[in-house]
Amino acid sequence: MNKAFNTIIIGTGAALPDTVITNRDLEKMVDTNDQWIVSRTGIRERRKLEDGLSNVDLTERASREALERAGLDPSELDMIIVATVTPDYPTPSTSCLLQARLKAFKAAAVDLSAGCTGFVYALTVGHQFIRSGTYKNILVVGAEVLSRVTDWKDRSTCVLFGDGAGAAVLAPTEEDRGIMSFSLHADGRGGKLLMIPGGGSALPASEESLHNRMHFIKMNGNEIFKFAVKAVDENLSQLMARENLKPEDLDYLFLHQANMRIIEYIRKRLKLPPEKVPVNIDRYGNTSSATIPVAIHEEIIAGRMAEGDLVAMVAFGAGLTWGGLLMKW
Ligand code: UT7
Repeated sequence: MNKAFNTIIIGTGAALPDTVITNRDLEKMVDTNDQWIVSRTGIRERRKLEDGLSNVDLTERASREALERAGLDPSELDMIIVATVTPDYPTPSTSCLLQARLKAFKAAAVDLSAGCTGFVYALTVGHQFIRSGTYKNILVVGAEVLSRVTDWKDRSTCVLFGDGAGAAVLAPTEEDRGIMSFSLHADGRGGKLLMIPGGGSALPASEESLHNRMHFIKMNGNEIFKFAVKAVDENLSQLMARENLKPEDLDYLFLHQANMRIIEYIRKRLKLPPEKVPVNIDRYGNTSSATIPVAIHEEIIAGRMAEGDLVAMVAFGAGLTWGGLLMKW
């Protein structure tokens, strides 16, 4: 039996497309307005990947930055996990495309589909390989190009989503820090509340599926909202109770950025000051599996997060899935 290691994050990176779509831009496309979008979601603008580029372009940029900050050569990677619901192709996986770009030929590579909970799931999977002593250096990425599966004629969804990628390099440590606890969940009965019905084996592309706009995101926003508030609340309470911690012990709570009202509800309930609950939904919209790693990276490059900080992450999304983890940075 191998010795059990703790898992720490030794480098982070992020990539956002340059093209900005403001709420004013959307007013010209669908029957919506800046006031509705800001008050109902907190979103002011989002990023859209330029034509000719794809998920792996963002993924590569975020990954190279994370590797550089970790001081690690890609050839030293043992595994690559890309969490995404918008891969370049159904197959091969975006993680394999990334492995080739990085020339990280020693690394195993796999994509993981867990909706907006993807990064938390991927981090937890990577943690298992490190904890068991199987692998040493693991690259975990949350990356989405949601603009390519967004129905730009549907005002109930097109105002919400954005493109982006966030990456983290995991490594083992014998120090008393790293991932302390995690809790992953799913309830497949809620799958239809948030889905892309077309393009898979159930509904392959056809003239009819295209005509019916089945290759775009369909979401029951109200139901997801109710589920999200409950899921985040329960998940966090469970994690904190397990470690015998109170909300005020947290230095950071990284919440999935789906709606500012959800973030504010949780933050106020836990009586946490705004600086402990970073927000990027105003600038990037909901970037699904990328929201949390991008937010973490932004805190790090701003010089605000420090070794030893107590950090919680909680996400929820399609599947339905939800999950969180606690770590001592
Ligand atoms: O990433 C994980 C998955 N996603 C989420 O977690 C999303 C969770 N859900 C939400 O964030 C919110 O439910 C939404 C932002 C999607 C919707 O907000 P809401 O407050 O639940 O609005 P609603 O769907 O109940 O719609 C209220 C009204 C409706 O008009 P009527 O029927 O009251 O006349 C909608 O037609 O707002 C209308 N509406 C809009 N109006 C202007 C819906 N979308 C828009 C829009 N602009 N873009």
